[in-house]
Amino acid sequence: TGGVTTIDPGFKNTGSCESAITFLNGEEGILRYRGYSIEELAEKADFLEVAFLLIFGELPTKEELDKFHADIKEQSVVDDDIKKILDAFPKTAHPMGVLSSLTSALTAFNPSSVNVDSEEDMYKSVVKILGKFPVLVAWTMRKKQGLPLDYGDNSLGYVENILKMMFKKPNEEYNQSSILVNALDKLLILHADHEQNCSTSTVRIVGSAHTGLFASISSGISALWGPLHGGANQAVLEMLSGIEADGGDTKKYMAKAKDKSDPFRLMGFGHRVYKNFDPRAKIIKVAADEVLGDLGVEDPILDIAKGLEKEALEDQYFVDRKLYPNVDFYSGIIYRAMGIPTDMFTVMFALGRLPGWIAQWREMRLRKEPIGRPRQVYTGENSRAFKDIENR
Ligand code: SDX
Repeated sequence: TGGVTTIDPGFKNTGSCESAITFLNGEEGILRYRGYSIEELAEKADFLEVAFLLIFGELPTKEELDKFHADIKEQSVVDDDIKKILDAFPKTAHPMGVLSSLTSALTAFNPSSVNVDSEEDMYKSVVKILGKFPVLVAWTMRKKQGLPLDYGDNSLGYVENILKMMFKKPNEEYNQSSILVNALDKLLILHADHEQNCSTSTVRIVGSAHTGLFASISSGISALWGPLHGGANQAVLEMLSGIEADGGDTKKYMAKAKDKSDPFRLMGFGHRVYKNFDPRAKIIKVAADEVLGDLGVEDPILDIAKGLEKEALEDQYFVDRKLYPNVDFYSGIIYRAMGIPTDMFTVMFALGRLPGWIAQWREMRLRKEPIGRPRQVYTGENSRAFKDIENR
């Protein structure tokens, strides 16, 4: 057989590790980071606090949070030569491919980041990537827009600084919008971790070979890029825009989604674990109404999304398969209202998921987990003798 007698495609029923970071109950739609509900964290915490909580296990005191942020600010300069790599990409390059490459390139400019045998060395790598990743995210967006790259402003908050690097136009007064800061803060918190999803499992298995943190995160970015995973938030907006362009005929697309001969899927619907409402989708749906209202944005796409959700929740095919809106269904509508380009939506997901990837990688290394190496059931040819090319 080649090692085992049964396999578990997609690891639907396989536990890969023990973890104390995130608790998920798919039947009841419960999500907690280190025991705290995401509902409370989204309301009462800020993103950097949640990053600290996920990585180190406790909500930080004010002193701990200030030191964490100071250490991150010290690491927020990205080597200027990274721009040469960025410049090598065509403007048409997808931002997730650019971000994954730049993140892996961080190792070249920070070679000591690979040796993380001590917690102290691990901490240095952690604050390095938390400092540099937002710059890479902003540079990836600005490059596509043909705008000058900005190094940020360390006098600002973590999320404020990200928005400034993304949106401040040269020679223009930049007025920080608290609406955007609060909206992004909440979205990043809701994306921060999700136990052993595809990209986190990727970070863990790559890291289990004792690959450095930056290269492990780069692998996670590539996994998240897929339209079945984080790439779905971009695919949702493309789908909703297509439905709008097609006269808003949601019934036609519902039929396509149920037609087995049609590869079309209702993007932003369904989940491997949630067989009930994704609790993040509930919060993001409410936030979409609030943010668009605060920004005075009327977006017909939001109405189409709500109409599609209503239809799907009443459709037997979807009810039988327990297909509900997931985290990706409404998030893009907020990003769009914030002025973030559609092909940057999954980059925003990666920005949110970074602390979770770091936390999971750190837990795996601290627990000295073995290298990930599954087995298989062999279904190929039996032993056979070589044939010379003349006899083939
Ligand atoms: C994320 O794992 C995580 O936690 C991920 C994530 C995170 O925070 O890290 O939550 C983020 O990736 C959310 C998911 C985003 N992806 C999408 O929205 C893409 C559309 N969704 C599907 O592709 C699907 O629902 C998955 C990938 C999310 C889950 O796939 P599964 O668990 O492998 O389920 P499946 O493909 O076996 O589907 C089960 C049934 C099938 O029908 P039957 O063969 O049983 O008749 O449900 C159908 C599927 O055809 N189905 C859908 C559907 N999703 C599942 N039919 C139409 N539209 C859909 N969206």
